[in-house]
Amino acid sequence: MVSDPFPARPLRLLHLEDSELDHELARAQLQRAGLGVACRRVETRAAFEAALDAGPWDLVLSDYNLPGFTGIDALRLLRARDADLPFVLVSGEIGEDTAVDAMRHGASDYLLKHNLARLAPAVEHAIEAAESRRARAAADRDLQASRAQLRALARHLQASIEAERAAIAREIHDDVGGSLTALKFELDWMRRHAGSPALAQRAQAALELLTHAIDASKRVMHNLRPSILEEGLVPALQWMARNFERRTGVECVLRAPADTPALPPGVPLVAYRTAQEALTNVSKHARATRVVVELALGAGVLSLEVADDGRGMSEDDRAKAHSFGLRGLQERAGTVGGWIDLASGPGGTSLILSVPIDADESLLGAEPALQRPVAPPPEPRLDREHDPSAWTPL
Ligand SMILES: Nc1ncnc2c1ncn2[C@@H]1O[C@H](COP(=O)(O)OP(=O)(O)OP(=O)(O)O)[C@@H](O)[C@H]1O
Ligand SMILES: [Mg+2]
Repeated sequence: MVSDPFPARPLRLLHLEDSELDHELARAQLQRAGLGVACRRVETRAAFEAALDAGPWDLVLSDYNLPGFTGIDALRLLRARDADLPFVLVSGEIGEDTAVDAMRHGASDYLLKHNLARLAPAVEHAIEAAESRRARAAADRDLQASRAQLRALARHLQASIEAERAAIAREIHDDVGGSLTALKFELDWMRRHAGSPALAQRAQAALELLTHAIDASKRVMHNLRPSILEEGLVPALQWMARNFERRTGVECVLRAPADTPALPPGVPLVAYRTAQEALTNVSKHARATRVVVELALGAGVLSLEVADDGRGMSEDDRAKAHSFGLRGLQERAGTVGGWIDLASGPGGTSLILSVPIDADESLLGAEPALQRPVAPPPEPRLDREHDPSAWTPL
């Protein structure tokens, strides 16, 4: 909101004018228009500078032809000190070039001495314009500050969520996982030593239930904290793509470099969570038949694209008040200096995460190899060593 630019006190007006008569005329003109002014007249450069420094002022009114300098020189002196203080040039005659020059240097207005009827409206307008500029700048500053706060809060939340997820995953791993595995051995022993076929059968059924529970808790743990990331981003994305395809029936193709570069800390998790949210969105909203996940590193930027051939999304979809997935991704990307681009149309949606990677931190020497498409992921092997969802140390 713009406050009243005309306070109850008189306007503090600094008048740079070598003619006492012209000064009196200007002052009379302002008073006739009902503007209360407290005027001070100066006529030399030194007096002008001293008066500026002694401010504050609400407006500078300046003649153009002054002893030893011009109104434009005065304007420059003013702007070096204050970018906002209104400056109105008043001259006996003012050429077009001078007027343009004055406006270019930040004058609020210019007028001719023989047309002083415009003086009061020009002064009022200049003060109002300066006030609304100041109000806008203050509002911009407030907005920037509150955006920065919101970003910091969102980042803090993301970090807390990751920490909490890791803690829960660790508990499932250490407590639930350990007990279930021990239980499995016990049940298996009972089955083998059962005195009757009926008991052996019940033990076998219990073992199957237990296996199911173990699988479920591994899955929960894995989703909470992708320990497979420790094997590298590419294997983690392979695992995710394979699981997505199996779960949703939507074809999911991964194109990725054969060798993962050593990525800066935090980047693999951001990329992993981005792919996870993008794929979840595909399964929830896109009605796609095919999705391509592409990881690439070129010109010092890591990019991860998830592109589907679904129904696309509208501006309204993106602005949904209670949808936080895409907004969260933007914030998450920001934590590692990256950003998200989104393109969508009737042919589908493409979400791209880009993260500039410091050449010193990553193995950019391997860059050419990064462009190679990855070999199709091997069929999952069921031994513990290659099952990414196996109980691995956290
Ligand atoms: N791949 C996609 N295809 C079509 N529409 C999409 C796609 N991804 C997102 N949308 C649309 O954009 C909206 C916003 O997505 P966003 O991920 O921010 O929220 P959400 O998935 O609705 O909820 P959540 O907060 O749980 O993520 C979705 O509600 C959906 O309408
Ligand atoms: Mg979502």
